[in-house]
Amino acid sequence: MTLDPSADAALVTHELRGKVLLVTIDHAPVNALSADVRRGLLAAIEAADADASIEAVLIVGAGRNFIAGADIREFGKPPVPPALPDVCNRIEACTKPVVAAIHGAALGGGLEVALAAHYRIAVDGAKLGLPEVQLGLLPGAGGTQRTPRLIGAAAALDLILSGRHTDAKEALAMGLVDRVGRSGDILAEGLAYTHELLAARASVRRTRDAAALADRAASLATVATARAETAKKSRGLFSPLKIVEAVEAAIEQPFDDGLRLERKLFLQCIDSPQRAGLIHAFFAEREVLKAPETRDAKARALDAIGVVGGGTMGAGIAVAVLDAGLPVTMIERDDASLARGRAHIEKVYDGLIARGRLSAEKKADIMTRWSGSTSYDALAAADLVIEAVFEDPAVKQAVFAELDRVCKAGAVLATNTSYLDIDALAASISRPADVIGLHFFSPANIMKLLEVVVPKPVSADVVATAFELAKKLRKTPVRAGVCDGFIGNRLLAVYRSAADAMMEDGASPYQIDAAVRAFGFPMGPFQVVDLAGGDIGWATRKRRAATRNPAARYVQIADRLCERGWFGQKTGRGFYLYSEGSRSGTPDPEVEAIIDAERVRAGITPRTFSDEEIVRRYMAAMINEGANVVHEGIALRPLDVDVTLLYGYGFPRYRGGPMKYADMVGLPTILADIREFAKEDPLFWRASPLLIDLVQRGADFASLNQPA
Ligand code: 3HC
Ligand code: NAI
Repeated sequence: MTLDPSADAALVTHELRGKVLLVTIDHAPVNALSADVRRGLLAAIEAADADASIEAVLIVGAGRNFIAGADIREFGKPPVPPALPDVCNRIEACTKPVVAAIHGAALGGGLEVALAAHYRIAVDGAKLGLPEVQLGLLPGAGGTQRTPRLIGAAAALDLILSGRHTDAKEALAMGLVDRVGRSGDILAEGLAYTHELLAARASVRRTRDAAALADRAASLATVATARAETAKKSRGLFSPLKIVEAVEAAIEQPFDDGLRLERKLFLQCIDSPQRAGLIHAFFAEREVLKAPETRDAKARALDAIGVVGGGTMGAGIAVAVLDAGLPVTMIERDDASLARGRAHIEKVYDGLIARGRLSAEKKADIMTRWSGSTSYDALAAADLVIEAVFEDPAVKQAVFAELDRVCKAGAVLATNTSYLDIDALAASISRPADVIGLHFFSPANIMKLLEVVVPKPVSADVVATAFELAKKLRKTPVRAGVCDGFIGNRLLAVYRSAADAMMEDGASPYQIDAAVRAFGFPMGPFQVVDLAGGDIGWATRKRRAATRNPAARYVQIADRLCERGWFGQKTGRGFYLYSEGSRSGTPDPEVEAIIDAERVRAGITPRTFSDEEIVRRYMAAMINEGANVVHEGIALRPLDVDVTLLYGYGFPRYRGGPMKYADMVGLPTILADIREFAKEDPLFWRASPLLIDLVQRGADFASLNQPA
């Protein structure tokens, strides 16, 4: 029996099960708390209070989750009543016991609904958490007030500041839920628990009255510690300190006053650009998964993987494959190199063992899935092979000729090249439709980005297979077209050039790095060079010397360092000086002297740069090249550029990526900057046709972020 067959009934239904009103939220895909769901929940509680035959209420979610939280798509739009805090308060005020039965996600507003209920049961597989911080928010429907009252300040701050998910067992231990159901049948478990509560004459029990903060002094001390740690750790993030403030209010103020403060702080977070950036990142990282080929084609088998080359990348890729539970066959050029390749892999696992994160038995078990050979014939059964040999077209072509010879029909042949022309590589063998680029980032077992580089002749199901591999490896794939550097390294080359030019014009590398860090990157461009090894870029520059536009500005400072063998951390000095074994460098006066000499050689009178100008130039270069990459179809949409920079290049997530950042600054401002900088170097600062077009039309990059 449906009591209220209103329009909302489609998303929230309620029906009598004996004396229990069963309220089911059915709003695919994740039961987010849209306005209709909020209205439906409110109506259900009203109905329960109004009907004397109802003795208790049970709230469940249909499908795979309880409730994934507020409807993130509504943020930034005009609010539609009823507000979630009011819905939660109404649930809590219900005069009959309300039980939340949790399976799958009970996150953010979803957990807040459960906390407003009077009793909670969860089953295995439940994910409970308050992840709002990851969206630049704080729990805004009573979560900062009810959670500490229920589980204490320390546990609440841990959950809310980390945004982590906890499981049913841990939730029970911390007092977040009252019961863990034995079976996975959420409805049966929820009904049984509710009937049990009724039989025991359990009364309404409101979380607002819970007493876990009774030791006020200890709770305040916990908050003080959290405040100090958060100030240190939150690196420019806005919401974490607001969270601490709200939890402090839970200790110091009556519940309703605390709720009011929470609301005020929540709205401040909603209005912050960080919220806009983080929510853009949330949707963008889901949108990149939907490349056109993944819709139209079915992935090929992925049961046996081959890797050619056991160096930095080959070994890292092999670890990523092993970690996904797949077998890997590694090919190297001789026995010694193969042994080194295996040793690189073992080193990763030995590191985990040393830190107590892996057992020796588990490592041995993983290594049974590794096999190595110096003969390509060992790849005869592989479904997909990833080549990661030297960055040399001739060497790669020779490897692909061997793959063409030995691999079975339908095997996917992938290259991890950073820059080389994959179209040409594909054309060099008899099965170009099977060739694709899989550009991993170093360390390949850690870094989340995987550029899937799509050459013209590749077949759609090969692209779909690459996306399937990314899923198995838990990587974030971004579809890219073939060009020099694809998406990420192409942008990197340009913003590095902007940084080099500023260095030669008068900014020190240390000032540039500091300004870029203050913007939110974990490292500045010169620290990155020192980490990756200056020799890598030097080799690329030498390779390209013959084809470089002679009219383009070329800053030689990095070459001067490399000529001295100063390759960065691994040689103890690069742009910075590194003491034995240290990874953090100190400024080097000799480097500054070299820079001075280079300025003299280039006839440049150094000038000062403000940190703000450094960031403006750095970002304008990045954004302009991002626009070029979209304009040329190398990236499907601006959001693909954003995800590339977020996942592969340390772009601060709370700024959403360079294209989102550009939209927030305003494209006319970015274009005006580029035109101003072009007065000094018109060749480098050529405004992208796409940027010009968008500004002329009064449009922004977001307008191009349509589904792929
Ligand atoms: N609002 C709107 N849409 C949401 C959503 C939400 N809260 N959560 C997920 N979605 C959408 C996704 O965008 C995706 O849409 P798409 O199919 O069009 O791409 C779809 O639901 C499925 O999501 P996933 O692909 O992520 O599905 P998974 O099964 O892998 O993961 C999940 C499910 C664990 C629930 C994950 O989606 C998730 O973590 N969601 C966000 C949870 C969250 O942050 N909640 C807090 C919201 S803020 C809040 O509640 C404020 C409150 O305090 C007032
Ligand atoms: P590396 O020099 O560490 O390893 C290359 C390995 O390939 C060596 O172990 C070598 O013995 C082996 N090898 C060479 N010729 C071979 C052949 N014919 N058959 C079998 N094995 C052969 O190089 P690295 O850094 O691992 O780079 C590999 C590829 O990955 C290059 O194309 C590079 O551009 C690309 N790449 C590198 C990144 C990095 O940060 N190092 C990042 C992303 C891509």
